[in-house]
Amino acid sequence: MARLKLGVMISGRGSNLQALIEACRDPSFPAEIVLVISNSPDAQGLARAKQAGIPTRVISHKDYPSKKDFEEAIDAAHKKAGVELICLAGFMRIIGPTLLARWRGKMINIHPSLLPAYPGLDTHRRALEEKALHAGCSVHYVEEEVDAGAVIIQAKVPVEPGDTEESLAARVLEQEHKIYPEAVRLIATGAVHYKNGHIQHRKEESHA
Ligand code: GRF
Repeated sequence: MARLKLGVMISGRGSNLQALIEACRDPSFPAEIVLVISNSPDAQGLARAKQAGIPTRVISHKDYPSKKDFEEAIDAAHKKAGVELICLAGFMRIIGPTLLARWRGKMINIHPSLLPAYPGLDTHRRALEEKALHAGCSVHYVEEEVDAGAVIIQAKVPVEPGDTEESLAARVLEQEHKIYPEAVRLIATGAVHYKNGHIQHRKEESHA
């Protein structure tokens, strides 16, 4: 079985990258990470990738005259590595038209809220301020509008009395680490398919 080739893009800690690395260690998992790109040379996630023997590239937006040039470089690196699906995992730059034109339907992101609630930053603070009863996380396809593409999978957690941003973030993060590999598995096995901005689900085949 050919495994789907993943390119993971990070900017920082890389705990979701780590969850993907762990999932890919299982030979029966239908995907493998062939490249990790960080826009920051200091991203902790780079060390995680190196530790796992995965090729890394630092492609900093600061080294390019325009967003278009920056994204051309990212695109070229993914293509050279044979990437088939890009996974944004805490990548802190907004994806522009150059990358989207080439990777729409082949680029997914993990976001720490139950989209469409709380797109953007500070999701947990906003959920607490609004006294939300639940929080959670979503894996979705990437479109022009930030955190707005079709949702592949979500996980919901309760907001507990006395929660702080940190305690809520930790509860959600635990779920992020479960649903990101699961989203990749759904795509890699063809159970989920992207078409014209929407998600199609393949009916489970009967094993009878
Ligand atoms: C996660 O909360 C993810 O949902 C968001 O950025 C954070 C990245 O964390 N997009 P990590 O770098 O994967 O630890």
